[in-house]
Amino acid sequence: MQKKVYIESYGCQMNVNDSEVVAGILAKDGYTPVQSAEEADLVLLNTCSIREKAEYTVLQRINEMNNLKARNKDLKVGVLGCMAERMREDLLEKKKVVDLVVGPDAYRTLPELLEKVGTGQKAVNVLLSREETYGEIVPVRLDTNGVTAFVTIMRGCDNMCAFCVVPFTRGRERSRDPESIVAECRDLWARGYKEVTLLGQNVDSYTWREENGLRAAGHGPRADGALPAARGPQPEASATVDFADLLEMVALAVPGMRIRYSTSHPKDMTDKVLAVMARYDNICKYIHLPVQSGSSDVLKRMNRGYTREWYLDRIAAIRRHMPDCAISTDIIAGFCGETEEDHQQTLSMMGMVGYDMAFMFMYSERPKTLAARKYADDVPTEEKSRRLQEIIALQKELSAQRMAGYVGQVHEVLIEGVSKRSAEHLYGRNTQNAVVIVPRMHAATELMPGTFIRARITSSTSGSLQGDVLDMINEPLVVA
Ligand code: 5AD
Ligand code: SF4
Repeated sequence: MQKKVYIESYGCQMNVNDSEVVAGILAKDGYTPVQSAEEADLVLLNTCSIREKAEYTVLQRINEMNNLKARNKDLKVGVLGCMAERMREDLLEKKKVVDLVVGPDAYRTLPELLEKVGTGQKAVNVLLSREETYGEIVPVRLDTNGVTAFVTIMRGCDNMCAFCVVPFTRGRERSRDPESIVAECRDLWARGYKEVTLLGQNVDSYTWREENGLRAAGHGPRADGALPAARGPQPEASATVDFADLLEMVALAVPGMRIRYSTSHPKDMTDKVLAVMARYDNICKYIHLPVQSGSSDVLKRMNRGYTREWYLDRIAAIRRHMPDCAISTDIIAGFCGETEEDHQQTLSMMGMVGYDMAFMFMYSERPKTLAARKYADDVPTEEKSRRLQEIIALQKELSAQRMAGYVGQVHEVLIEGVSKRSAEHLYGRNTQNAVVIVPRMHAATELMPGTFIRARITSSTSGSLQGDVLDMINEPLVVA
């Protein structure tokens, strides 16, 4: 009998893709994905620990599972991802409804863990790995629009930003075999996908050494809870594939496919990557470059590895290579010791860069992190909130300015689906990752998701563009 699994993802794009990898692993074990928890034999919550609020949301959701279990005695509930890693057995003890706890590097063991759960026992595996990249696992695409897909190119993070829980929940950084990345992109293209986003916590430190198939140096085992060791010297290898090389390999392998990536790190972003981006039309002109703060003092305490000046130099380099490139960022308001002057520097940085878009957060202290151990969380909540509101208000203006600048231009847009607001309109994105809304009908033909069109941008808001369709560039590939 077919078993049914429902997977709910919280947090970042990497988590969304991990859920697809999990669905791929479970497919071999006879599970088909379903669209709601109510129809499932197994509910998996793929969780996020990045801020306290993210964890709170999931803890509430876990409680709701009690109602489902009351109705379906055979239902099993599992917690995956970053919270599984952070809370471990505690989750099983505190939340009786949970049967299974599996960390981000242990998904291959799901079939055996589920067997144990099937006999009425609880099961847990939160071992982190130095090698696991799920390289050859074929993800089962969940909730897909059939047009855009995520491809994970590396896992973990070695950066140790003082505020961040990720190195503790996702472990050491490791890169995936470039051949398997290219093969996955080719397969997606063959199945009609038109855009891939290459994912990693810090894509700029992607490294693959051909000779032994493993990243070099600084990758000793991590004692539980201990800080990962500082990255050691990277021995020169004969054939090393860096991120710029990988981007180029993918751009050449699937020339009709749009390529995006996330996330860059200002301390590691090279001109070589920018040159490759500029060289290939199918690499989107959009960079997500988290700044976190505009103050060099705060950046130092955050252990970000760059100053305000360094960051601005990287912005100048982007503009030099790609004058039309969009830039987005992440900003944290109210990090430990942040003064009003530091905050003003963040606002001035935002104005100088003129971000297209930003994700903006109040600082939330996370257990085990450098900041939690070393600094007092001393900016009062009301003050954090006021600063955040100022940052959000300024970004709204900046986004509106950037978007208004596109009005009158002709943009290539990849249609992704039907607009949420109007069934008569479709939405897609331009190379700069801005949402473009266009009429559904063009010259008596209905436009389909997966079509590239040229659109003249007619108006804008701070969140999207409206356009008129000029012509179609391709017909979507019909997939048997
Ligand atoms: N508090 C607030 N925001 C955080 N981020 C990461 N950790 C924290 C934290 N403890 C933000 C950063 C990061 C984004 C993914 O989430 O801006 O870039
Ligand atoms: Fe959340 Fe970070 Fe884990 Fe992604 S890697 S799920 S953002 S804690």
